[in-house]
Amino acid sequence: MNKAKRAAVIAGNWKMNKTPSETAALIEEMKPLVADADCGVVLCVPFVDLPAALDAAKGSNIKIGAQNCHFKESGAYTGEISAAMLCELGVEYVIIGHSERRTYFGETDETVNLRTRAVLDAGLTAIVCVGESLTQREQGVTAELVALQTKIALRDVPAEQLSRVIIAYEPVWAIGTGKTATAAQANEVNAVIRATVASLYGDAAAEALTVQYGGSMNAGNAAELLDQPDVDGGLIGGASLKAADFATIVRAASR
Ligand code: PGA
Repeated sequence: MNKAKRAAVIAGNWKMNKTPSETAALIEEMKPLVADADCGVVLCVPFVDLPAALDAAKGSNIKIGAQNCHFKESGAYTGEISAAMLCELGVEYVIIGHSERRTYFGETDETVNLRTRAVLDAGLTAIVCVGESLTQREQGVTAELVALQTKIALRDVPAEQLSRVIIAYEPVWAIGTGKTATAAQANEVNAVIRATVASLYGDAAAEALTVQYGGSMNAGNAAELLDQPDVDGGLIGGASLKAADFATIVRAASR
């Protein structure tokens, strides 16, 4: 299988932005702009915005995702949200292990693995984030680190669930900084992720895997990044809050 046969997915990560009413308005603005997309279109919004987002996206090609979920089914975990809760709402995607969760909220490769499995067991699709810091890139350990993160995230994930896994390579130094990995750097690390998945699940499963790039992808640089053979879409932060910019990226992935 080659890139042309893999599902390209452009996912917006709104982070902690937009109230429910602002969410509805932005999705209404985006809907006509992305209606003819030839790729998956996902918007991952704050938990409280999910009902408004699902309502606004109804009948369109926009799918809705959350930005995290807890790994337990229920219980004494004040402030947390379970995969089953998201599922019942109609959410289809969940971002897991974003570097902001790892950096500010103490998430580890182990909890990323538990969360990934909870998302998959609930029947949802996990967008699992991996990526190196600037120090790690300078130390020359990017490939090893990203392979390790990928391997731990997928521990005990059965092969039959892999079709509901997307991996997003997000170099931490490129997130929200305006510094993008070069197309060659993005492709190189995405290929490492694919090779890691091949070693765990075989070539066919790895060839079918959607591997995104994320980190300051925008309307200006998306086409070059998305043209790379191992870049199957993007996880978009800042540029996903502007309807026209997000639509430009979706068009770049649809070529
Ligand atoms: P950015 O964020 O596009 O604003 O760099 C990407 C992300 O954090 O997923």
